Amino acid sequence: MGSVVVFASSLLLTSSSLVSKSSLISKHKTLLHFSLISPRNNNRRLTMSATLGLTKAATIDATKIAFTAKEIDLVEWKGDILAVGVTEKDMVKDQNSKFENSILRKLDTHLGGLLGEVSVEEDFTGKAGQSTILRVPGFGSKRVGLIGLGKSPAGYKSLGEAVAAAAKSAQASNVAIALASSEGLSSENKLSTATAIASGAVLGTHDDNRFKSESKKALLKSVDILGLGAGPELEQKLKFAGDVCSGVILGKELVNAPANVLTPGVLAEEASKIASTHSDVITAKILDVEQCKELKMGSYLAVAAAATENPAHFIHLCYKPASGPINSKLALVGKGLTFDSGGYNIKTGPGCSIELMKFDMGGSAAVLGAAKAIGQIKPLGVEATCENMISGTGMRPGDIVTASNGKTIEVNNTDAEGRLTLADALVYACNQGVEKIVDLATLTGACVVALGPSIAGVFTPSDELAKEVFAASEISGEKFWRMPMEESYWDSMKSGVADMVNTGGRQGGSITAALFLKQFVAENVQWLHIDMAGPVWNEKKRTATGFGVATLVEWVLKNSS
Ligand code: BES
Ligand code: MN
Ligand code: ZN
Repeated sequence: MGSVVVFASSLLLTSSSLVSKSSLISKHKTLLHFSLISPRNNNRRLTMSATLGLTKAATIDATKIAFTAKEIDLVEWKGDILAVGVTEKDMVKDQNSKFENSILRKLDTHLGGLLGEVSVEEDFTGKAGQSTILRVPGFGSKRVGLIGLGKSPAGYKSLGEAVAAAAKSAQASNVAIALASSEGLSSENKLSTATAIASGAVLGTHDDNRFKSESKKALLKSVDILGLGAGPELEQKLKFAGDVCSGVILGKELVNAPANVLTPGVLAEEASKIASTHSDVITAKILDVEQCKELKMGSYLAVAAAATENPAHFIHLCYKPASGPINSKLALVGKGLTFDSGGYNIKTGPGCSIELMKFDMGGSAAVLGAAKAIGQIKPLGVEATCENMISGTGMRPGDIVTASNGKTIEVNNTDAEGRLTLADALVYACNQGVEKIVDLATLTGACVVALGPSIAGVFTPSDELAKEVFAASEISGEKFWRMPMEESYWDSMKSGVADMVNTGGRQGGSITAALFLKQFVAENVQWLHIDMAGPVWNEKKRTATGFGVATLVEWVLKNSS
């Protein structure tokens, strides 16, 4: 069965075109074709036009990584790096200092006891994050590595990432990855383990060098996955993982692109490209300011009002299956501020991170990344994209704006702009007759204070929808935490002159933001809001994460089958 998904992202949704025709799911269980396109995908480029600063995103040739699942003995494998994922249990040795684990024992024997020695010398115990790579002349593989999975073997994606990092530093072009104890896994677990490893390898290999004047090309060409099965089912799963990865990479690149390059207009262009690449199933409708005025989107347009040079673009992507029945109509809505200065309530002072506010379209990026991956699922996406700037035409603190459902809002803080744009995007999505809406937004600093940098907040009145999204996150590995929709906090959002204000003070700031959004969702629509202000960005790596794409894809697929 198919489903219709609305991708709605309020504010800015940029995206580049869908790479490949991936039919993730359909009634006929068509499987996506797509080769795992890794570091950069040649087919999809952000053709961002240079504006202020004369910067242009470089187009870097795609490097494809070929994944092959094999059932061969580790010691027979030949290539650049043979990496083995080990747990602390796998590293246990007997009285004779030999590995109890049969795979490690055999490998160690072939290597003349080197693995045992190095594990003692380097105090390698198999903890998560540990890794050791040895050069082993005369062996079939040039290098052999042990990568710690930690106590619970949950870090398969990290295993793939660690191997990608090792491949980069050794300039390896072909690697093999195995687990010391894979025999015990059920065949279903083997499939998910293999795909997690592959995703980690693809995402770990990807470096966003589009804005560097020089960049090294990734050399990794092939990854053999050993001992986790082989055959068409696994191949299909790997292809699916590749599809999701190309969506995640798109999401990352959109967020990384600076606001002078990725304007609302450019984001709209990128969305259109996704549609034209998948013209059999996806259509794009881009509304300009005049058209948004006709729809009475006063709340959204007020946020966009100062940015006369880079005007608002409301993006609506619709995915309809080419054939077969439609069993659900879904909407994905993303906050799409290509830049959030704060407006007259300008972001000042240390810690306000105004220089990072290019990432304020992270919700839109996730929606476009998912649209790219889903390509064939029939999703509908809406994104109201704009900039929150300051100028004589801009919205003032204290102004009253009127949203497209007729509700009036006293803007007591121009920096709480995301909810103003989402208000009109949510009304628009509801008017499309959807049953379920998931919105994603880098909405509040308060959510980062509550949950830290790597966990997104989930706000919804619907236990059922929460369950669906949490089930999707189990598969994607992205972290979410459900937050309360405490109705009594609505008191702080009351206005003396309008229906509501847009901010309710510092306390419970992410909750009052969610309560605000709820005012714009129709009663008969199931709705879930994701505040991804923390996980949109990786502070340590100084780069975007592509957060949200993988979970959205899983959620949409579940609703389509
Ligand atoms: N885009 C920001 C939220 C944000 C802040 C994301 C820091 C990531 C890191 C949002 O538009 C904003 O400015 N929110 C305000 C709301 C406040 C004025 C009620 C905030 O969180 O400070
Ligand atoms: Mn803001
Ligand atoms: Zn914002």
